[in-house]
Amino acid sequence: MKAPGTAEERDRIVLRLYEELLEIEQRLIPTGLHIFGQAPAGRALADLLRAVAGFDRPECNLRSLPELVAAGLGLPSYATLLTESAGCEQRLAGREAVEAIVREAIDTYLDRGSGAACQFLAGRAAVDLQASQGVFLFLDQIRAQLAVNREEDALVRALRGEYIEPGPGADLVQNPRILPTGRNTHAVNPYAVPSRAAFEKAKTVVARLLERCLADLGRYPEAMGMVLWGMDNIKTQGEGVAQALWLMGVEPLRDAMNRATDVRIVPLEELRRPRIDVVMTVSGIFRDLFGATVELLEKAVLRVAALPEPGDVNFLARHAREQQTSGVCFEEAAARIFSNAAGNYGTNVNFMVLDCHWQRVDELGELFLTRKSFAWGRTMGGRQARELMERALARVEVTYQNLDNAEIGLTDVDHYFEYLGGLTRTVELQAGRRPNAYLSDALTPAVKIRTLEETIRLETRTKTLNPKWQEGMLRHGYRGVAEIEQRVANTFGWSATADAVDDWIYEEIAAAYALDTSMLERLRALNPHAARSLVGRLLEAADRGFWKTGPSAVARLREIHGLLEDELERVAPTRPR
Ligand code: BEZ
Ligand code: MG
Repeated sequence: MKAPGTAEERDRIVLRLYEELLEIEQRLIPTGLHIFGQAPAGRALADLLRAVAGFDRPECNLRSLPELVAAGLGLPSYATLLTESAGCEQRLAGREAVEAIVREAIDTYLDRGSGAACQFLAGRAAVDLQASQGVFLFLDQIRAQLAVNREEDALVRALRGEYIEPGPGADLVQNPRILPTGRNTHAVNPYAVPSRAAFEKAKTVVARLLERCLADLGRYPEAMGMVLWGMDNIKTQGEGVAQALWLMGVEPLRDAMNRATDVRIVPLEELRRPRIDVVMTVSGIFRDLFGATVELLEKAVLRVAALPEPGDVNFLARHAREQQTSGVCFEEAAARIFSNAAGNYGTNVNFMVLDCHWQRVDELGELFLTRKSFAWGRTMGGRQARELMERALARVEVTYQNLDNAEIGLTDVDHYFEYLGGLTRTVELQAGRRPNAYLSDALTPAVKIRTLEETIRLETRTKTLNPKWQEGMLRHGYRGVAEIEQRVANTFGWSATADAVDDWIYEEIAAAYALDTSMLERLRALNPHAARSLVGRLLEAADRGFWKTGPSAVARLREIHGLLEDELERVAPTRPR
């Protein structure tokens, strides 16, 4: 951050910093693993219910608690307070007042019931009793369903080969109808994707994403590489699909049976921005589950690529025309939906990274291409199309993925770095420059677009380096240590695939887990194998140049690693000092 010049500038910086701290503080952070058959309780339950009550539920005719409180206090809408709090002290104060009242209302509800909570809200923020009663009735249902936990029973019945009743799969905050858990998660009807709600939300997300690109690049990106997953599009009823369509400037059209089988080209006067060339990397699961959606996306690509519009307002058409001059047919020049070969899944980039089976970062991009360069859709039919994918990716300036839930983030699993990281490395390989990488986060009512680097910083602060998260994991014994180790390994995966991890992140992970003697001793006692891998991964980060640190830290880590290794091999009885 630049040193502030004037007092006003200083105030602005402090305000922004404060807003970032609020964001870290308020994130819904799972602080432990799910234990089969156990429902959340205590603080975790309060935080979960607060998150659920944080969204309007038009399907139940309910306003969110923050909106009710903001209206009761005579403030602008909570959504406005959220958007404007980073730049205006008065808005920030309003936002904090609303959030404090909502927090107290949820605590009151859990301690003394809905009547007391409604009275509290009426007294403190003039919230209409009937409106707040509706919200708490809704929360009552959720609590009751959380308490009827049939997970163990359902598992035993499934093992016996009995029928398990189906239920939707989603994030609890986004779709409380997933309760009770312990049901057989069913997918969606691909013809219903994207839903109307998903499409409306996608318009806002795309607007924010393009605003951010404009701010960072100084112009619209001509081509964007996007990751689409099956589970995410099930959970969100196709938000990712809707974003891809809207980036190209088309809307789904529904037939007489309400099936999304066609697209409407949105005229440029209505769109008021260029059509973006979207290169879609879809998972094997998406390809299998969303056959009809792949055809819808393909229809959109072919129609937009064929429009007789100028190249500076229709990047996709211009790129396809350019590519046709080199002798490929129109359908090949417009191939934009890539996945694995039929029957194949995953990029394997995660396995290559985690097993240390690579020398140059380019190898990761090459593997990604080998696995994912099969072109799908009615015209391409899943045939290998490596050159077409290379050409399409060489134009990509921005890579992007939609984050769909609060529970699983970028460093929780290896799949985000294998996909978005793998794609980013492949684009760098083809284009000769690292694209900007972005993620959208619509987990709160205010849509946020963050760069990959910003998202990793946020997750590192809220999870990896958060003592509450650490203790939550350590309560799970050896498994918790394995989770910590995996998170460090997944963080490393973002260095390997996208150079997206700051030095301070490794520095502080080393300080928290390896160089802190009492923490190291806890890790060692609970799971010495994971402790050794964690230290080994930090050394690998330093060896490969992802983490620039002093020789003394490396020497100390080598010593610790050696001692852990000796102990595991029972060479020497000493413990790391
Ligand atoms: C999917 O839902 O498409 C998916 C799930 C796990 C890893 C990668 C993709
Ligand atoms: Mg997995």
